Parts: sequence; structure tokens; C-alpha cells
Amino acid sequence: MIRLEGLEKIYGGGRGGVTHHALKGIDLSIDKGEIFGIIGRSGAGKSTLIRTINRLEDVTGGRVFVDGVDIATLSNAELTIFRRSVGMVFQHFNLLSSRTVYGNVALPLELAKVPKDEIAKRVQPMLELVGLTDKSDRYPSELSGGQKQRVGIARALVAEPKVLLCDEVTSALDPETTQQILDLLRDINRRMSLTMVVITHEMSVVRDLCDRVAVIDDGLIVESGNVFDVFVKPAHPTTQALIANEIEASLPKSLRRIIHDGPGGPGENPVVKIVFTGPNAYDPIISQLSRTAGIDFNILAGQVDYIQNRPFGILFVEAKGGIDEAEKAIAFVQSRNLKAEVIGYVDPDSVPAG
Ligand SMILES: Nc1ncnc2c1ncn2[C@@H]1O[C@H](COP(=O)(O)OP(=O)(O)OP(=O)(O)O)[C@@H](O)[C@H]1O
Ligand SMILES: [Mg+2]
Repeated sequence: MIRLEGLEKIYGGGRGGVTHHALKGIDLSIDKGEIFGIIGRSGAGKSTLIRTINRLEDVTGGRVFVDGVDIATLSNAELTIFRRSVGMVFQHFNLLSSRTVYGNVALPLELAKVPKDEIAKRVQPMLELVGLTDKSDRYPSELSGGQKQRVGIARALVAEPKVLLCDEVTSALDPETTQQILDLLRDINRRMSLTMVVITHEMSVVRDLCDRVAVIDDGLIVESGNVFDVFVKPAHPTTQALIANEIEASLPKSLRRIIHDGPGGPGENPVVKIVFTGPNAYDPIISQLSRTAGIDFNILAGQVDYIQNRPFGILFVEAKGGIDEAEKAIAFVQSRNLKAEVIGYVDPDSVPAG
């Protein structure tokens, strides 16, 4: 559905200005109907990349194909029609404050000169889809962030696009509202078999929404694949760091405070992180560690997430017998084809009881 070939973007350079090489040769292929995530740090080139897909940004080199068409070849008139087939949702909603919810959603159709009664017929179902029927006559200033983003989504979908581009659409929202918007986008993807490109700097958005993901770093794709595989076996240091941030953020604060980097002081115990996947992997590994391998440990924290309906869990244990016990535990876990590593050290006296 979308194919990017050797995409390059160099900003600036006019009349002795400073240039910036924002995209350095991007090759990417996105299938029809899939939700494709692009993740990277600030300044990596995410927004530049997504804006090339509807030609809001012209490229310096390479080609963009949407539905088989090289979009650089479109005339201005063709470009206007093409852009109707590509909806876009933004981080800061970009709503018109002087228009009501209805007026904002109707705008793309008005610009396309769709007759008034036809507009009404198409706006109502969109408001219903995003759950805003009762807010039709309200103005953006009367809405919460999540409601504003719902308007943004309805406006992007009203022209029945084939592709939906989402640039950091949940970054301005609190965690609960984020989850609702992600659920809505997933639901829309299933109902409309819409191809979606989702830009984010948060691994949790990728985990909860996307089918496949590409990691962009300094203008290059450094890793890509199925979301589950990338989460379980991140290969590139940038991916590993993004996932580590996400995992660390999910650790209880009280625990984060007491785990420190090595080497551990006298009497301190290593903390082993165990990553497990597959059904029922959690219970067996705990009982096997103690019963089969005779390893003495203390569970500090643990969680199980579901990525694409497959369990993915992380367990933090304190190896009570110091580094020897930790190494035994790691060897045992690795013999079960799971991942384990020492992530830091704790003073046993500082570990909260229970
Ligand atoms: N119009 C512009 N002129 C010059 N440089 C630009 C322009 N737009 C972006 N850049 C530069 O290109 C690089 C990539 O910018 P881009 O906005 O694509 O990053 P991003 O990954 O979306 O970052 P963020 O997560 O902060 O939104 C940055 O270093 C930025 O400073
Ligand atoms: Mg950006």
C-alpha cells in the first residue's frame, strides 16, 4: 500500500544556510490494512518521514509510492484529490476554534465541495463512531483533550481515506485517555480495513496498537519487524533503550530507588531481570528456579503484558546468595531459552518486606 524507496530529506541549504540531513535513505513497505508503527527519539526524523507520505514535505531524493502511484508525479489537481485519500491526525489536534465539533468534522467535505445534505449524512456516522454525537454543537474550547482528539480522528476519517497518518496522537493525553484513543484507533482499523502509520516515541503505543514497527534513529531505519518479536528480542541499542525506558517506568518507584548500578558492595545482592514469553511461562519458571535448581531468591516485581494476544512477562528477582546465585539463576533461565541478566544491585536490608 505504501512503499518508500531510498528516501532522503535535506533541510535548508538555501543561500549559505545550515543544512540538516533529516532522512538518510529510508526503505519501507507497509501493507494494506496494517497498523505500522514508527518509533524513535526526538529529532530522529519521524515527523519528516510521515509528512513525506502525503507530500506535506517534498523529498530531496528517493520515491514514495501510495497505492502504486509515485506521488511525486502528481499534478496539483491530482495532489488535492490524492490528499483526500490520506487522513492525518496530529499531536495538538489542530482544530479550528471558531467552528463547532460538527463544523470541524465537516470541513474536509466542504473543501471538497460535497453538497450540504450529503455532508450531514456523512458527518453524523463519524461523530457516532468516535462517541461524540452529543457534543456536535460544542466548540473545541469546551472539550477535554481526549474529546478533541476524537474530533481530530473523525475529521481525518470523514472523507473515507485509504490511509490514516497519526503523528504522536496520544502524546498530549493522560494514560487513561491514551488507552481509550488507542482502543478507538484499533477498532477503526478493524472496521474500515484502513492502513495506518503511527509515529510515536513511546514503546507502549507500539505495544498496544501496532502490528509491525520500524525504529528510526538519526534518519535511518535501524530495526524493523513484528511488534512481538521486536519487544522480545530488540537487536539495536536504540530499540533496547526505548524498551528499557518503558520497563523501568513500569517498575514501582520504591524499587527503582533502591536498585543501583554495579559493582555491588559487600553483602549486596544482584537483581536479575528475567524475560519470559509463551503461555504459562510465569509459574513454571518460578517454581523451577527454587525447586529444580535450588536457587534462593526473592521476587521484587513482576508483570505480564499481552502483545498481540501473546503473553510477555518480566520478573525482577533478588538473588539471595550474591553473584554466584545470580549466575546460577541466569544459566538456568537461559537453558529454558529465556532471557536473563543482572540489571543492578540491592542492599537486602533496604528491600521492602513482602
Ligand atoms: N523545516 C525544517 N528546517 C530545518 N530543519 C528541520 C526542519 N524540520 C525538521 N528539521 C530537523 O530535522 C530533524 C528531524 O526532525 P523531525 O521533526 O522529523 O523529528 P521527530 O523525530 O519528529 O522529532 P520529535 O519527536 O521531537 O517530534 C531534526 O533535527 C529537526 O531539527
Ligand atoms: Mg515529530
